[in-house]
Amino acid sequence: MGDSSMGLHEQPEKLSPRTVDRHRAIVSLMEELEAVDWYDQRVDAATDPELAQVLAHNRDEEKEHAAMTLEWLRRHDSVLDTQLRTYLFTEGPVTDVEEQAMEPSPAPGLGDGSLGIGSLKGLGE
Ligand SMILES: [Fe+2]
Repeated sequence: MGDSSMGLHEQPEKLSPRTVDRHRAIVSLMEELEAVDWYDQRVDAATDPELAQVLAHNRDEEKEHAAMTLEWLRRHDSVLDTQLRTYLFTEGPVTDVEEQAMEPSPAPGLGDGSLGIGSLKGLGE
């Protein structure tokens, strides 16, 4: 794959192999999710029920591809790993999850627990 088709935004020789591999994974994830969106719309619009079924099947395979690629990214990006561990598979309002994550953990002998807050702030910002 040539540089131009890879969509890099900086000169390739300035980029580490790890960054370029993460770029590949990010672009792949974008493509998989875009395909899910396209298939969703085609399923809605298809007039033949059997075609809609085939398209829905294909769409759901794209979700598997997206999940596998996201997992690779998580294993190669520690901040993403932390954020996914904080937000995924939670319940209730998503915006409340951040507040709960910022709450001081009841560590013994830590007074108001402000150390816990400080250590979490600035993640991914
Ligand atoms: Fe796919």
